[in-house]
Amino acid sequence: MAELIVPSPISSPAGFITNVRESSGLIRLDLELDQPMPFLPGQFAMLNLAGARPFVFSRPFSILAAKGTTMSFLYRVVGRGTRAMAELKAGEPMTVLGPLGKPFPGLAEVGDKPVVLVAGGVGLPPLHNWLVRYGRPDDLGFFGGRDGGDIPWDLLAGSWQVSVDKAVDIPAGQNAYEGLVTELVAQYPALQDDRPRVLMSCGPIPLLKAVAALAKERHWDCHVSLEEHMGCGYGACKGCVVPVQDLGPAGWRNATCCEEGPVFEAEEICWDKYGVAPLPRAD
Ligand SMILES: Cc1cc2nc3c(=O)[nH]c(=O)nc-3n(C[C@H](O)[C@H](O)[C@H](O)COP(=O)(O)OP(=O)(O)OC[C@H]3O[C@@H](n4cnc5c(N)ncnc54)[C@H](O)[C@@H]3O)c2cc1C
Ligand code: FES
Repeated sequence: MAELIVPSPISSPAGFITNVRESSGLIRLDLELDQPMPFLPGQFAMLNLAGARPFVFSRPFSILAAKGTTMSFLYRVVGRGTRAMAELKAGEPMTVLGPLGKPFPGLAEVGDKPVVLVAGGVGLPPLHNWLVRYGRPDDLGFFGGRDGGDIPWDLLAGSWQVSVDKAVDIPAGQNAYEGLVTELVAQYPALQDDRPRVLMSCGPIPLLKAVAALAKERHWDCHVSLEEHMGCGYGACKGCVVPVQDLGPAGWRNATCCEEGPVFEAEEICWDKYGVAPLPRAD
């Protein structure tokens, strides 16, 4: 299997350009960096609001896109850091540390197997970037949101199949399956043959557990991106550990999500221990 050449991280001052509302809950953030930051789909950056903002720690966000020195992210307001991001004014300073982490496999790694992308909510950026950069006619994207208002229709631009928890607020001319995105994938007509495929997913833990189970049942390779809480983003604080299989006596160990992930093979993860708080100790 070909080795991915992963770009080295840099820390770049950046200025806020704009927040664009892509759906009722999803906001696209555009930043102007001092220098280009090449990245691969699935890599993330630690965003730090400099200046007088009430948020000194950096927060991890997957990179949605980059053009020259303009870099875009997609986020949902969940706490004080993302609230401060939503209130930024033009030109306000930030620092971007990235690109960080292990990316999703590229075309050299997936070979001629078709790819199935399954994104839930803010899990869209890495997979959207994968589809834009590498997508071939047989590769399929599936996006799950809360309702029609929560779906970033323009961003998906007709190239994604959509599912919603509740079929309300669906704009005229758009279609959405009502139910779980994993149900949509499981019953999707083009996926009923026994062709080997590669599934890549990013989203909430229950979604990742369900896609891992589906991939196992279908004998598809499966790669998932995990969104752990992160302190540093580069392996120093050990605040982002996830339980992975290990050959040692315990049978598992803690892996850093920021350095060894955020993309893992689904079979590496100890799903029975993952997302169950508090994480037991491996020693
Ligand atoms: C590799 C990676 C990529 C990510 N990419 C994106 C992205 O593209 N878009 C996006 O919106 N978010 C993404 N996240 C999650 C994002 O980092 C958190 O939403 C953000 O840090 C919250 O900061 P806050 O200060 O607003 O919230 P806080 O005030 O720190 O927390 C508010 C609430 O959000 C919860 N929360 C905080 N961090 C996370 C997390 N990592 N996962 C789940 N819940 C969390 C807290 O438990 C709390 O309930 C990513 C996380 C990782 C690790
Ligand atoms: S975030 Fe610090 S070690 Fe992963």
